[in-house]
Amino acid sequence: MLTSQRRLRPFLKWAGGKGQLIEKLARYFPACIKKGKIRKYFEPFLGGGALFFWLAEHGCFEKAYLYEVNPALANCYQVIKKDVKRLIKELEGLEQEYVSKSEAGGEKLFYEKRDEFNAFLRKKASSGFIRRAALLIFLNKTCFNGLYRVNSSGEFNVPFGRYKNPTICNEVNLLGIHEILQKAQIICGDFALCVKEADDESFVYFDPPYRPLSSTASFTSYAKGAFDDREQKRLRKIYGLLDKKGASVMLSNSDPKNVCPDDNFFDDLYQDYRIVRVKATRLINCNANRRGEIKEILVMNY
Ligand SMILES: C[S@@+](CC[C@H](N)C(=O)[O-])C[C@H]1O[C@@H](n2cnc3c(N)ncnc32)[C@H](O)[C@@H]1O
Repeated sequence: MLTSQRRLRPFLKWAGGKGQLIEKLARYFPACIKKGKIRKYFEPFLGGGALFFWLAEHGCFEKAYLYEVNPALANCYQVIKKDVKRLIKELEGLEQEYVSKSEAGGEKLFYEKRDEFNAFLRKKASSGFIRRAALLIFLNKTCFNGLYRVNSSGEFNVPFGRYKNPTICNEVNLLGIHEILQKAQIICGDFALCVKEADDESFVYFDPPYRPLSSTASFTSYAKGAFDDREQKRLRKIYGLLDKKGASVMLSNSDPKNVCPDDNFFDDLYQDYRIVRVKATRLINCNANRRGEIKEILVMNY
């Protein structure tokens, strides 16, 4: 039986993070996970990896395959897996620099580090992997709302967040994550790559970028390039291929019916599978008053 005990947490706040929803998702896990463990777990839209951490802590898989198209984020996981001690040192340095400043000084420091991070994003990565990972974590802990957003030139453009005492280096958590990542393969690349490795002893959880709830609410920029309806349809094909291979597949997305009751986009796209709706609370919304309860759609092939 799965218990609700948790120690490890995602090391980043990430838009669309599933931390709040896990207990609800757990009710719909395939029987093999509920009873014990599966051989391979796949998370092809890794982001902050909330479900991966949860399943790892509950010993639910033997090996994990994690895919993320954002190179800065994928690098962070790779550095935690291979070089966590040096990353912790780098983060401790950044934390000391930050806490020694006044608010104005902290703000200046933030923008300096943001420029340094963007200089990394502009050039093709061949070195500086640890510094790049430390800067991403630093910016995530000190920027507005812990958001990761890039502009059309691919530059990180989230402003300063004015936090008094953010924990920039959570050593215990990073060491724990380092340990569990030894069971994971981290791939910087497209979700479709998962088809190659998945088989009938696999559980795949798809958590793609949300289909915007309204034309004004479009949060699409985790990386350059939008995840539009064509991408959602490409994902549907991959879902079908995994189903044919015998994998257990779960997918989540925002329910378009939250704003438009007649929008049957996902109901039509996944009409061959089991669809349920669960209540969710959106975490990242610039307007605090609009962080209300909405529904999330889940699609299972089992
Ligand atoms: C909704 S977030 C995942 C959130 C995650 N479940 C969590 O708990 O934090 C979607 C992630 O998919 C990534 N992504 C977008 N397009 C992708 C693609 N084509 N292949 C792989 N990852 C992609 C984004 O960079 C983002 O990190």
